[in-house]
Amino acid sequence: MTARELSFVHLFRPATIAGLPPVLLLHGTGGDETDLLGLGAAVAPGAALVSPRGQVLENGMPRFFRRLAEGVFDEADLRRRAGDLARFVDEARAAYGIDAPVALGFSNGANIAAAVRLLHPGLLSGAILLRGMVPLETPAAAARVPTPALLVSGERDPIVPAANAARLATMLEEAGGPVEHRVLPTSHGVTNADVEFAADWYARVASRPGASGTAS
Ligand code: MLT
Repeated sequence: MTARELSFVHLFRPATIAGLPPVLLLHGTGGDETDLLGLGAAVAPGAALVSPRGQVLENGMPRFFRRLAEGVFDEADLRRRAGDLARFVDEARAAYGIDAPVALGFSNGANIAAAVRLLHPGLLSGAILLRGMVPLETPAAAARVPTPALLVSGERDPIVPAANAARLATMLEEAGGPVEHRVLPTSHGVTNADVEFAADWYARVASRPGASGTAS
């Protein structure tokens, strides 16, 4: 595990298997760069992992952008932070010699991943969004770039209404897709079924001709 001086505090775990797309781990509110390392290893065994810590503090809890209330986002801040994260991805790619990553985000991390996917087409090679919701009411029309995405929602999630998750799936599809949307009979927390769906999806994306590989 290494961590160079880049614009985000982060951890980097080099690939142990060549040719797999690297994974950008994006934690939920109150998490940090260590939180999703186990999840990343379970979803993408052998892939390089890049795990930044969100730069916003809400009552001492790291997040990736400001919110005004639960589920009500400060969109100007979100746009700025999505740009900051996009720059970090470019820095990490140069510093570690890795290709465009697949984002793996949970909750607040899924929401910034969705924003980056919508605002910075082509930056990510894929996105796994666990309990993601619509990050921006009106993302500016950006270039449609095909980028596979998996959205896994919880039927009884008190934070993400079902209609909101469905709207996010549509937005991602309109941004270029393809999108798989799975709804599990569960709440906001990550379950074994999430890990299984995510691992299966990642393996399918990684085995596609032209899927990125790592140089490390
Ligand atoms: C958010 O603020 O991104 C969502 O409400 C999810 C959360 O972090 O609780």
